[in-house]
Formats: sequence, structure tokens, C-alpha cells
Amino acid sequence: MDRIQIRGGAKLNGVIPISGAKNAALPLMIASLLTDQMLTLENLPRLADVNQLARILGNHGVDYSIDGKRVGEEAASGQTAHLRARTIVDTTAPYELVSKMRASFWVIAPLLARMGEARVSLPGGCAIGTRPVDLLLMALEKLGATIEIDGGYAVVKAPKGLVGGEIEFPKVTVGGTHVALMAAATARGSTLIENAAREPEVADLADCLNKMGARVRGAGTSTIEIQGVARLNGAHHRVLPDRIEAGTYATAVAMTGGDILLEGVGEDLIKRPLEALEEAGVTIVGDNRGVRIARNGAGIDAVDVATAPFPGFPTDLQAQFMALMTRARGTSRITETIFENRFMHVQELARLGAHIKLEGDTAIVDGVDRLRGAPVMATDLRASVSLVIAGLVAEGETTVNRVYHLDRGFERLEEKLGACGADIIRVPG
Ligand code: UD1
Repeated sequence: MDRIQIRGGAKLNGVIPISGAKNAALPLMIASLLTDQMLTLENLPRLADVNQLARILGNHGVDYSIDGKRVGEEAASGQTAHLRARTIVDTTAPYELVSKMRASFWVIAPLLARMGEARVSLPGGCAIGTRPVDLLLMALEKLGATIEIDGGYAVVKAPKGLVGGEIEFPKVTVGGTHVALMAAATARGSTLIENAAREPEVADLADCLNKMGARVRGAGTSTIEIQGVARLNGAHHRVLPDRIEAGTYATAVAMTGGDILLEGVGEDLIKRPLEALEEAGVTIVGDNRGVRIARNGAGIDAVDVATAPFPGFPTDLQAQFMALMTRARGTSRITETIFENRFMHVQELARLGAHIKLEGDTAIVDGVDRLRGAPVMATDLRASVSLVIAGLVAEGETTVNRVYHLDRGFERLEEKLGACGADIIRVPG
């Protein structure tokens, strides 16, 4: 298994191109199941999760092809993929596949909408606490589906088609909102989603569905209205930039000091994390190429954050921000309100010399003057990258094991950081 080796101490200076968002790419790819026409997605990130989902979709009958690199195209440009589900050959998504990537459970919505039935394995345990799918199933039920749990599978049926309805989520769920959108797009009549997730990736999916002929209004707010249409067509769509990747590199430069342009991302996507970084002492300037982040000389101030649904502080940046706070002047409190048990990085950061105490859903981080390199490993994507951020300033060498977690969600991480001066290499193994 590959490892990432980092020698801490170098500042980051230069330009980091921001890739297409993984969390938008996945639901967009899944939406290709809704039509027998071609869906073309530009700016698709080169990630293990994208490849894995392409395999899963292939199982259901999606033809998937990627355009070759064009002359003059930079390595940084995203890929263009064509997805076409001319016929659905299988409405079952098996355990072996769904258990590898939770988001693949979302195929349940387009399969049900198009074929009147689907049998999708329940995703099972996950490294960041229990992540149930009860609200996703509730949404389908509100649109007229019957639901049965059989042998670890959710079996959903709507032989006469789905019917529009009212879905009020008791809790904000990104996956639930994606599923409700995809199921309602071709349901008979209109659907109202209340307390919908406002994440930009939801709005991106809605945009793409509208290009496919759907009638969705209000995505990006907590009330979404969908007027069902008889059928959807193919479309061309560009995946929006990855706000979590951008926020991660912003946090990295806050940690090391230096001056980085995050190319291709707008401030609006990462407003709250940028506010937190500004409070920590970082300078931020937005321009038409992206967002510039700089920290020169001054140290890092301690800042408290609590995760919340968008536009709040993203849970997917919590681990990275905690890594930054390990070097702050003073004590910060980091509260995780979205997922239970999303603190696995705490023990690993401690191996690098961080002082962190857990109290329920809050980590109390006492900043230290120095971190020291060590071998570390992590059990999820965002936790792994928090260790990279800590490694960038730790004295000596830090080895991050189980790099496949990073490859799930960060495109060419070591190249992007290396190009800005970090001493970081991938060691194949
Ligand atoms: C998505 C993101 C993930 C991010 C998360 C929260 C993708 C591929 N993944 O995950 O990176 O961390 O949003 O921003 O986009 N819940 C229930 N019942 C359900 C569904 C969810 O109780 O049926 C709970 C979850 O346990 C969690 C909360 O709702 O506590 C939010 O989860 P949700 O927004 O659904 O996360 P995902 O869509 O899985």
C-alpha cells in the first residue's frame, strides 16, 4: 500500500488548481440512470471514488467513457466523461459494491424512478459513526414507494410509478435531499421538499437535472419544489469546484505560512471556513482567478468552531481545522454536530505531539509550539488529510499510511502540495 512521506517545515507558495467536487460528481453520475440519453460531465475529478462509482453504474447498464487528453490540456484539467444508461440491465446493487462507498446507495432513487423497483444493499457500518438511511427511505415512501428490508437489502417498489408528495426532513441530510430530488424529477405531479440540505452540491445536481428537462426550483435553499416531468433527456454539465479540497489547502497554507492562490474556486463556496481562518490570522483576498490565502510572520490564533450544515462550518473540514489548531496560541474548542464519532484523527494527531482532550461532541485543543513527525494512519478521508496538514509543520518525517483514503477524495495531493514547495512524496508499496 502506498504511503505519503512528508518532511515538515516548508512554507507553501504558488498556485493550487481546485478540482471538480467529489460530492457533486457522485450524485451527478448517478443521475445518468434517469435517462436513456447521454449525460456528459465536464471537470470530473480523477479520484478512486469516481472510478469505483463508474464500475457500480456499469453493473446497472451505464456505458462510461472518458475523453482522451486534448493537445495543450494541462494535467490539472478535470476529465470529461460520457455516461449513457440506454437500458437498465440490473436493478440490484449488491453488498460488495455498496459497502465500499456509501453514496452508491443513492442509485436507489433513479432505479426506482425509471424501473419501478430497486433492490439496494444497506450500506452497513462506516468509520465515521452510524450513518443510517432511514430518511432516504422515508423520502421514497412519501413519493408512493413501498419499502421492505429483506436480507440486508432495501427493496423498494412503485410499479405504477412515483407520485409527487411532501417530504419534510426532520434533520438536514445531503444524501436524503439528493435522493428526493432524483426520485421526484419524474414523479407524477409536484413535490415539496422542506428542510432540504442547502449544500452547493445539491444545487449543482438540481442544475444538471434542469438541463436534463426537470423542473426544480429553490435548490440551494431549504425549500425545494419539483414539478414532475414525463421523461428526462441527456445534457452537458460542468461539475462545480470542490469546496472541501479548497478549504483543505487553505488550512494547509494557514498552517505552514506562505501565499497560495486557490485557482478556480469562489469565496462564496467556502465563506464560513474562510471566516474561521481569518479569525486565526490568515489574510484572504478573492479575485477573478480564485482565492488567495496568505499567512506571513504572525502566529496562529485559537478559534472555536462548531460544524453545521451549509452554510455553516463543514464537517468535512473539521479534522483539517483541528490539525491547524494544534499549533495555535491558546485553546480552541471544536464541536462536531453532524456525525457521532468523527474524532478518529485525535489519537493520530496526538502521536505527532498535539494536546487534545475529548468531551462528548467537543475536542478541546491546547496549541503546542511544535509537532514532531511520526508514522500515522487514518480511517477516513478527511482525517487522513488532517495528518498531512500536521505533517507539513512537524519536525522531521511524518509517514501517512493507508493512502487509499486520500486517493478517494484528493486528486494528486502530493503533486499539488509539492509544486508549492512542500517536501512530500508518495512511496509506492
Ligand atoms: C454527505 C457527504 C459527506 C458529508 C455529509 C455532511 C457526499 C458523497 N457525502 O454525506 O462528505 O460529510 O454529507 O455534510 O456528498 N442521517 C440520518 N438518516 C438518514 C440520512 C442521514 O439520520 O437517512 C443523519 C446522518 O447520520 C448524519 C446527518 O444525517 O448525522 C447528515 O448526514 P448526510 O447529510 O445524509 O450525509 P451524507 O449525505 O451521507
